[in-house]
Amino acid sequence: MALLPIITLPNPLLRKMSVRVERVDDALRRLADDMLETMYEAPGVGLAAVQVGIPRRLIVIDASGKDEERRPLVLINPEILELGPDMRLHEEGCLSIPDVRVEIERPGSLRVRYLDREGKLKELRAEGLLATAIQHEIDHLNGRLIIDFLSRLKRDIIVRKFKKQARTGSDPQGLTA
Ligand code: NI
Repeated sequence: MALLPIITLPNPLLRKMSVRVERVDDALRRLADDMLETMYEAPGVGLAAVQVGIPRRLIVIDASGKDEERRPLVLINPEILELGPDMRLHEEGCLSIPDVRVEIERPGSLRVRYLDREGKLKELRAEGLLATAIQHEIDHLNGRLIIDFLSRLKRDIIVRKFKKQARTGSDPQGLTA
């Protein structure tokens, strides 16, 4: 397994629509395992393949608590089938937008269909942090970021800051790779 470099704003790949995975093979499983290792190391609750520079519809998530046993999830070509009626507010961060947190209200429960690590079709009901994380990561597959939930003015300020950091080469978070 290997740690993968995480791309950050303003990398234009983050705005790209990820393409469907056509075949679940060993290379894809290796990528999923590397993404999980990268996510745990960061640390983060979830990671989309596009965040390591590979715009394919693959996400990994672990919404278990700090002192709980790990519950790694690999979701390939995830599709939300149903969103619950109750909303959940959560302050979200993103490994591709270091040091920025945004309060976002999203449906608090959902049903998602996906292929698992073995390529088997699965369905999962999620609520709480897991439901939030699944929506956050699927947003990544569609080129959507947490700053899109902000007003245009606030979003522009953040984007400008990251563009400037990229120009001057400063990396406030240290190396993520
Ligand atoms: Ni993110």
